[in-house]
Amino acid sequence: MLEKFTFKKKNEGSATSLFTKEDIINEQVPRHIAIIMDGNGRWAKNRGLPRVAGHREGMQVIRRIVRLANELGVEVLSLYAFSTENWKRPPKEVEFLLKLPQMFLTTFLPELIEQNVQVRTMGETSALPAHTINAVEEAIEKTKDNDGLVLNFALNYGSRYEIMTAAKRIAEDIKLGTLNEVDIDEEKFNEYMMTSYLPDPDLLIRTSGEIRLSNFMLWQLAYSEFWFTDVLWPDFGEEQFVEAICEYQQRGRRFGGV
Ligand code: IPE
Ligand code: IPE
Ligand code: MG
Repeated sequence: MLEKFTFKKKNEGSATSLFTKEDIINEQVPRHIAIIMDGNGRWAKNRGLPRVAGHREGMQVIRRIVRLANELGVEVLSLYAFSTENWKRPPKEVEFLLKLPQMFLTTFLPELIEQNVQVRTMGETSALPAHTINAVEEAIEKTKDNDGLVLNFALNYGSRYEIMTAAKRIAEDIKLGTLNEVDIDEEKFNEYMMTSYLPDPDLLIRTSGEIRLSNFMLWQLAYSEFWFTDVLWPDFGEEQFVEAICEYQQRGRRFGGV
């Protein structure tokens, strides 16, 4: 199955040097990969299409990357789908973006179930339209007994909001007497994050040439490896995904040690 992922390695000139499945599966595949899927609007603009055409195309990419991540044994894939700042976009675009989860799940939920994927979300989902919440809740419910890839959609997600909310809940628990101030350490604080049940991302990918986090997983990405590409999200494919993992495997992670 993985044989088809054979690509030219960058910076090595010779065409005989290729990424093969052995390049990545003989070494540790990242347990958790987080992706800032960016560049849909520019992809559409380059083709003289409305921005939403780029979002629609981006949905197909999610499908392919989920399948590959699952095959490679990645445990968690966190995808930034809608940020707390994306409400600033024109109402029609916001409306379309918030229809995407439903469109995606209506089409692909059966194959996610078949692939043993577990759908999850993080973010302030209660502020989303009912049709979005319903589609997502159905997917979570129908995949809750699966034990393959965790597909974690960040929906109405903002990292500062997440951290602030954690701080508020900690304050409340102290007031209630269910938490003692002296017991707050990083591990305890992490229990109040939306990702408390997940390992931190090992690898962060951002497409479209933007080199910033845009309020994504600030707490969780403290020691992650970052990989940026100019490729726009609708053009992102298996080749780039494998390349990112290959590069990740060549990095020396020290976590402050030597
Ligand atoms: C990413 O593509 C999708 C979302 C933010 C939901 P953009 O819509 O940000 O595309 P660009 O950055 O304008 O090209
Ligand atoms: C980040 O992309 C949010 C998502 C991918 C959902 P944006 O396109 O919204 O980020 P900025 O505005 O360029 O920082
Ligand atoms: Mg963008």
